[in-house]
Amino acid sequence: QIAFLNGDFLPLEEAKISTQDRGFLFGDGIYEVIPVFQKKLFQLDAHLDRLRKSLTAISMQDPYSDEQWKALLNDLVNRHPWNDQFIYLQVTRGIQWVRDHTPDKDLTPTIYAYCNPLKPVSESILQNGIKIVTLEDIRWLRCDIKATTLLPNVMMKIAAKEQGADDAILIGRDGQISEGTASNVFIVKDEVLLTPPLSDRILPGITRMIIEKIANDHSIKVIEQTLTLADLEAADEIWLTSSTKDALPVCLLNNAPVGSGKPGPIWLKMQSYFAQAKH
Ligand code: PDD
Repeated sequence: QIAFLNGDFLPLEEAKISTQDRGFLFGDGIYEVIPVFQKKLFQLDAHLDRLRKSLTAISMQDPYSDEQWKALLNDLVNRHPWNDQFIYLQVTRGIQWVRDHTPDKDLTPTIYAYCNPLKPVSESILQNGIKIVTLEDIRWLRCDIKATTLLPNVMMKIAAKEQGADDAILIGRDGQISEGTASNVFIVKDEVLLTPPLSDRILPGITRMIIEKIANDHSIKVIEQTLTLADLEAADEIWLTSSTKDALPVCLLNNAPVGSGKPGPIWLKMQSYFAQAKH
């Protein structure tokens, strides 16, 4: 595996950063995960746009132009044998020698990217879906920033696994559903697709955006509205969407079956529309 680090391509094992990197010490950085299908970066413009928004939100400038990003990311992808991959890309505020929460001016950002093979979702998940529990959303109020600081997400993922589930859907203190630990949430009710509106509580998922567009193109009605546990419990279908897994059907919610207890018909349709959109 080849990594891109601060302008150079090198073997992944040889990519090293300073212990004084603010990404390491403070989690002071942002990231993107970009899927690659048949060697083509999927929705790259949307990912670069979100990358820029995350950087702006943390008072950083984008180190590269879109053209520079495109050239280097395509170069990175083409150094790997896999047709389907995902790129992990991270930009941190850089190295600072004296510890201080306040960043020094004129730091040089650390820019890092590497590729992983993108495995297809297992047959058993496609047949039987995943198991979800609901958990309190313990995160901050800027979940719209794709920050590398993922400790709450990791803790909630661990808590979900400890309860025997594959993942969790997160509920705010006021009872509103936000998203999954690393995904957005959709439900299907009476053939209408419902998802929480964009806000500072959720990441503006690229897959979420694509699914809304595909649904519109195929006359599936989409409504953005706040959702509660009661909506999840009454749903015909629940999906979790992300760049590395498309839409995953949820078939067990807090140990109760969702709808028929099998991946639903609208999800099946969306799977095939999504597969067409990728190529
Ligand atoms: N996560 N919400 C959160 C909290 C996420 O971490 C992600 C993606 C999403 C879905 O966004 P998108 O459709 O753009 O991938 C929503 C990535 C895959 C990750 O952290 O690995």
